[in-house]
Amino acid sequence: MARVALVTGGQRGIGAAISEALQAAGRKVVASYAGNDQAAKAFTDRTGIPCYKFDVADFDACAEAVKRIEAEVGPIEILVNNAGITRDATMKRLTREMWDAVIDTNLGSCYNMCKLTWDGMTARKFGRIVNIGSINGQAGQYGQVNYAAAKSGIHGFTKALALEGARSQVTVNAIAPGYVDTEMVRAVPPDVLEKIIARIPVGRLGRAQDIARGVVFLTADDADFITGSTLSINGGQHMY
Ligand SMILES: NC(=O)c1ccc[n+]([C@@H]2O[C@H](COP(=O)([O-])OP(=O)(O)OC[C@H]3O[C@@H](n4cnc5c(N)ncnc54)[C@H](OP(=O)(O)O)[C@@H]3O)[C@@H](O)[C@H]2O)c1
Repeated sequence: MARVALVTGGQRGIGAAISEALQAAGRKVVASYAGNDQAAKAFTDRTGIPCYKFDVADFDACAEAVKRIEAEVGPIEILVNNAGITRDATMKRLTREMWDAVIDTNLGSCYNMCKLTWDGMTARKFGRIVNIGSINGQAGQYGQVNYAAAKSGIHGFTKALALEGARSQVTVNAIAPGYVDTEMVRAVPPDVLEKIIARIPVGRLGRAQDIARGVVFLTADDADFITGSTLSINGGQHMY
C-alpha cells in the first residue's frame, strides 16, 4: 500500500513541486492550502492530488483536517511542513501582528501538524517528517526578524523532535532552501533580486524541483539513518 504523504501549502510554489515529486515516487499525496481555491482546483485537475483547505496556524482547524484526511485517505506517514508566509519589515515597522502571523504560520504550524500526527507515527513505528526552513533562518536577513526567528526555530525544533522519534523509526529533518523562483521571491523588488542572484555561486535562483528532490531523498523508506539533519539547498550561497 502506498504511504500517505501530506504536504502543507502543497498546491503551489515549492509545495506543488514537492507534492508532484512524492507522487512520482509512489506516495499517495494530499496537499493543503490556506485560501487560494483557484490554484488548488487547477492543481488537483492537473495532478489528481486532492487539496484540503485549512489554516495551519489554527490548531483546531488542523485537528479537524487531520481527522478528515486520515478517514478519507489513510494514516499520514509522511508529513512535509512547507506552508509559510513572509511579512517583511524592519524592527521600526514590525508590528506585533506581523510577528505573530509569521511565527504562528511558519513555526506554530510545525507544532500543530507534528503534534497531531506524532502518536500515529510513533505507534506504527514509521514516520518521515520534513520541515521547510530557510537560508534566512541560518544566516539572518535584513527586514526579516520575524521570518528568520520562525525559520531558525524550525531548525531547533527539528533536532529536538528527531531525538524523540529516533527509537520509533520516525525521522525528522529540515531543508533550508536558498532563494527559489516562486511567487514569494517574485515579490522581491527586481533590483534587490538582481543583487541576490549575483551572490548565488551557481548563478541562478533555485527551482522548486531542486527542493523537492531533497524531500524525496529524506522521506524514502530506507532513509531511516538520516534524522535531525538540515539539508541546505541553496546553490552554494551559504554553507552550514
Ligand atoms: N521561495 C523561496 O525562495 C524560499 C526560500 C526559503 C524558504 N522558503 C520556504 O518554502 C516554503 C514554500 O515557499 P513558497 O515560495 O513556495 O511559498 P508560496 O509560493 O508563497 O506558497 C505558500 C504556500 O503556503 C500556503 N499557506 C500560507 N499560509 C498558510 C496557512 N496559514 N495555512 C495553510 N497554508 C498556508 C499557501 O496557500 P495558498 O495558496 O492558499 O495561499 C501556499 O500553498 C515556505 O515555508 C517558505 O518560507 C521559500
